[in-house]
Amino acid sequence: MLFRGNRILSRHLRHKLAFGRGISGTGLKSGVQLNRAVFFAAIGGAFIGAATVFATTTKNHEKNKPPQLSTSPIDTVEPVVYADNNDFALAVEKMKKVVGENNVSTDEAELKAQSDSFFSTHHPPDPLKQKPKALVYPLSTEEVAELVKIAHEYRVPVIATSGFTSLEGQAMHTRGPNSIALSFANMHKILKIHPEDLDMTVEAGTSWQDIDQYLLGNDDTSHLMFGPDPGMGACIAGMVSTSASGTNAYKYGTMKENVVNLTVVLADGTIIKTKQRPRKTSAGYDITRLFIGAEGTLGIITEITVKLHVRPVVEFVTLASFPTIKDAAATALEIISKSGLQPNAIEILNEAMVSFVNSSQGQNDHKFLEKPTLLFKFGGPTKKDVDTQVEVARKIASKNLLINLETSSNREDNDTLWTARRAGLWSTYEYGSKVLENKDDVQVWTTDIAVPISKLAQVISETNDDIRALGFGDKFSVMGHIGDGNCHFLILYNSPDYKKVQKVVDRMVYRAIDLEGTCTGEHGVGIGKRKYLNKELGKETVDLMRHLKLLMDPRRILNPDKIFRVDPSDTLDAQFDAAHIHDHGCCS
Ligand SMILES: Cc1cc2nc3c(=O)[nH]c(=O)nc-3n(C[C@H](O)[C@H](O)[C@H](O)COP(=O)(O)OP(=O)(O)OC[C@H]3O[C@@H](n4cnc5c(N)ncnc54)[C@H](O)[C@@H]3O)c2cc1C
Ligand SMILES: *[C@@H]1O[C@H](CO)[C@@H](O)[C@H](O)[C@H]1NC(C)=O
Ligand SMILES: *[C@@H]1O[C@H](CO)[C@@H](O)[C@H](O)[C@H]1NC(C)=O
Ligand SMILES: *[C@@H]1O[C@H](CO)[C@@H](O)[C@H](O)[C@H]1NC(C)=O
Ligand SMILES: *[C@@H]1O[C@H](CO)[C@@H](O)[C@H](O)[C@H]1NC(C)=O
Repeated sequence: MLFRGNRILSRHLRHKLAFGRGISGTGLKSGVQLNRAVFFAAIGGAFIGAATVFATTTKNHEKNKPPQLSTSPIDTVEPVVYADNNDFALAVEKMKKVVGENNVSTDEAELKAQSDSFFSTHHPPDPLKQKPKALVYPLSTEEVAELVKIAHEYRVPVIATSGFTSLEGQAMHTRGPNSIALSFANMHKILKIHPEDLDMTVEAGTSWQDIDQYLLGNDDTSHLMFGPDPGMGACIAGMVSTSASGTNAYKYGTMKENVVNLTVVLADGTIIKTKQRPRKTSAGYDITRLFIGAEGTLGIITEITVKLHVRPVVEFVTLASFPTIKDAAATALEIISKSGLQPNAIEILNEAMVSFVNSSQGQNDHKFLEKPTLLFKFGGPTKKDVDTQVEVARKIASKNLLINLETSSNREDNDTLWTARRAGLWSTYEYGSKVLENKDDVQVWTTDIAVPISKLAQVISETNDDIRALGFGDKFSVMGHIGDGNCHFLILYNSPDYKKVQKVVDRMVYRAIDLEGTCTGEHGVGIGKRKYLNKELGKETVDLMRHLKLLMDPRRILNPDKIFRVDPSDTLDAQFDAAHIHDHGCCS
């Protein structure tokens, strides 16, 4: 009872301190000491008065005190407090004044669509609660800054979304329903382009496909391209935030290599530019990189300057089929690490993946040999240069029992071949709706690990055997960005098998980590991969991430609960375990 009183009072105090650099504002547990002091003061009788005095002196004292720890282990962090209904309503009223009534939606269908996405591997365990109550559409950096300032003042969680294609539950409203979805759907202007410097600046909600279209559509830029190519519809801010890549990363790098600088709104509404525009700099900390892969937990990105590359003059797609995935992987490994060839891309597909693609093609479309397959892009100044490379590749492949090799002869062909690769997730899903027992409950678990390239064949074959041993037969597909040691198993299942799949995925991830790899090569952590980070990076490294988070976002309003826990009382993992049978019904 007394304890409870103490809590309520401390919450009251926290509120009072909220506008300064308050103790509780840091999120660190020094607040606990305060609670105790307040508690004894209360017993002594001098209730509110003493508490206030104490709070003020502690506040001044705290200001001059150097930080106590270099990291923030979760048990040094105090539980978080967010806006109640009343504060939330006040915040939304203020937000409407910033962006106009029309740019704040409370339409149920729109809110529902922002609470889950069809292809995400994870769905909200409590969908009635874990959704936003308002969807806000800003139009400029200044508007975003005003909105975030209000969210900060009222302690409203803010989850930014751009293309909404992320796969690990990154955009889930774990702290709903008093939560805001900040949509960049209306911020997609191309702001500036410097063809001679190979860079361009875009707003957060510009998609990578829009950039490509824009570049191709102008005479002075049609020789240029943008590298990273993740899911269709993904936008640059989301791609920065997940450190996305795709099939082009082997040659052109991931988002980590493709961002020049950023404009970011910090958690209290401060606007920063991360650097100037040169390709290289040694001017202090790499603040740009701090936001790459941060999943909207450290700041809201409003503008991005990206690098451009010169498009290959000619580039053809070559496809090689092998009897086993090991033969395919061995060929890729020799090409990458011994041959001196520099393909623009190398992808690996298992036979199931090829057959899913095959069966989702139209009647007269190109059909593929249903065997483990390597897909290459070879490019150069002339067709002859490409031919030379293909011949070297053929020789290496022949040593590894090559069954068939074909090279596209025109744009349609290479589009068909590459589109086949792109269609991987969709065609796996489509196949699931034919072969799973319950056809109305098709689930796809999209995994994503990366290992040093020499270990990829081992991970693939061990995981392959593990999945079969569990009785999944051929209800899974494999595709990999083999040039980067990155692969995806797409496992089809009905909801009741959730735990079984979870086990296979856990084993796969630990296998990758044991081989000095990572739990995610490109999809990011979201809520799906949080549990692996301590093992992969070391607890202290994760505690340092949390420390940075608490310093930069003391009220923990920016995409809470993603990447690592920010609240010791967070029960998400248990919620996922309990609520695995779901109707994700997000998009109907
Ligand atoms: C069919 C399919 C294929 C895919 N293939 C690939 C692939 O090959 N490679 C790959 O890397 N990924 C792939 N993905 C995953 C996905 O496309 C990427 O994760 C992509 O980077 C997400 O971008 P988005 O714009 O959709 O982001 P969203 O899903 O909208 O958001 C992703 C994260 O970024 C944050 N965020 C969004 N906007 C902002 C902002 N303005 N400021 C700060 N944070 C923000 C969100 O809060 C969230 O945490 C695939 C997905 C699908 C559905
Ligand atoms: C709201 O959005 C529309 C476009 O969707 C825009 O024209 C308008 O200026 C926005 N802002 C305000 C304050 O109404
Ligand atoms: C990058 O830096 C240049 C030079 O200061 C600036 O003009 C540009 O707006 C910056 N880009 C972003 C996205 O902030
Ligand atoms: C590809 O798919 C078609 C059905 O669409 C099937 O008839 C054919 O056998 C498959 N395999 C090959 C190697 O074409
Ligand atoms: C595809 O084929 C055409 C030749 O018709 C070629 O010019 C082009 O660069 C190729 N590559 C891609 C990726 O479209």
